[in-house]
Amino acid sequence: MSRDLEIGEIPTAAAGPVPEHVAIIMDGNGRWAEARGQARHSGHKAGVGSVRSTIEECIRHGVKVLTLFAFSSENWRRPRAEVNLLMDLFLTALQREVKRMQTNDIQLRVIGDVSAFPDKLQRRIDEAERATRANSRLILQVAANYGGRWDIVEAARRLARAVAHGELDADAIDDRAFARATTLGDLPDPDLFIRTGGDLRISNFLLWHCAYTELYFTPVLWPDFDADEFRKAIADFASRQRRFGQTSAQVKVAD
Ligand code: FPP
Repeated sequence: MSRDLEIGEIPTAAAGPVPEHVAIIMDGNGRWAEARGQARHSGHKAGVGSVRSTIEECIRHGVKVLTLFAFSSENWRRPRAEVNLLMDLFLTALQREVKRMQTNDIQLRVIGDVSAFPDKLQRRIDEAERATRANSRLILQVAANYGGRWDIVEAARRLARAVAHGELDADAIDDRAFARATTLGDLPDPDLFIRTGGDLRISNFLLWHCAYTELYFTPVLWPDFDADEFRKAIADFASRQRRFGQTSAQVKVAD
């Protein structure tokens, strides 16, 4: 398959373990625009550029899964005009980027309750997911109308239904079975969570899945989050010792 991204040398700052799955809350678009005396929507438009450069960096570093929080279940509370603009932006981005995803072997998955989106957007999402299903270089997950609690409640419902239909023994429900029933299915949990825009919150993002995730917060606003900023986050991750409940000495022996 032909690929149109030029994959250069991995910068030395990223020497060390590379996260397999990176999850990002792309915050600060509104403030970026307001600081320039522009309407909030120009910040969202500028944010698309950061989405593109982040995807390229993920491919360059060998990240396998990238999950972007594009629209939370709480974002419906924003002014109607801003919600409409975000919908238009998703629609145009999908239309424009599917070809590029094909060329670059990127699989698109949308997680969240998309049934609340306009029909046209739902159709476009479905088409894009089908068209890119066999791609495997990078799995790009866009969380849209997503909430971590919603994901957990949906998983519980799915498992409860399977038990009620006699397809599953309630005692067989463990961590793994529960995780598999969430929107991430068999994908690995995020190794690195990044939030731009300065707030120190998880904001109902992948609640079940971030139990052992390394958290990285930066004041940089999303439209300014370029390749260099991504590399800083990757380098910071590489410097951390992940213990998963073990002692530091135990982890060193295992290394
Ligand atoms: C948060 O900034 C950002 C969003 C709610 C939307 C993010 C959407 C994009 C970057 C558009 C492109 C996405 C894809 C996947 C094509 P904010 O508005 O809350 O900023 P503020 O905190 O400064 O107000």
